[in-house]
Amino acid sequence: MRVQPETAADHDAVRAVHRAAFGAEGEKVATLADRLRASGAVSLVAEVDGSVVGHVVVGRNLLDAPPQLVDVGVLSPLGVLPGFQRQGIGTALVAAAREAAAGQG
Ligand SMILES: CC(C)(COP(=O)(O)OP(=O)(O)OC[C@H]1O[C@@H](n2cnc3c(N)ncnc32)[C@H](O)[C@@H]1OP(=O)(O)O)[C@@H](O)C(=O)NCCC(=O)NCCS
Repeated sequence: MRVQPETAADHDAVRAVHRAAFGAEGEKVATLADRLRASGAVSLVAEVDGSVVGHVVVGRNLLDAPPQLVDVGVLSPLGVLPGFQRQGIGTALVAAAREAAAGQG
């Protein structure tokens, strides 16, 4: 298994991951992932044998923490295909997402 930045060729597979992982809400989550990617968020995929089995996004947002607005990264959505869950893939995606987000400040 390896984690790497999502490419344009991964978009359909990423949507399929979220549709399968989130069940009834899967379509909404797939659309959210599309919008976050388009906004320039960090977007990483986990691959097994060359196929996308997991995906994570870290978007940017502002947290209202008076007296200031704090620039934060929001880790969501995170999804792993049901047949590949409980194997450490979600953990690896979160670790890589944190590292990539930290690299962007
Ligand atoms: C949440 C999710 C991404 C975890 O991915 P994963 O590859 O199965 O995660 P890991 O194998 O790395 O396990 C990470 C931890 O989560 C726990 N875990 C995984 N699935 C779980 C479940 N369904 N219920 C309870 N705990 C679960 C594991 O036991 C592990 O805990 P541990 O480190 O204390 O042993 C995956 O189950 C998923 O896609 N779920 C549906 C979508 C979702 O709810 N996403 C999160 C909100 S955006």
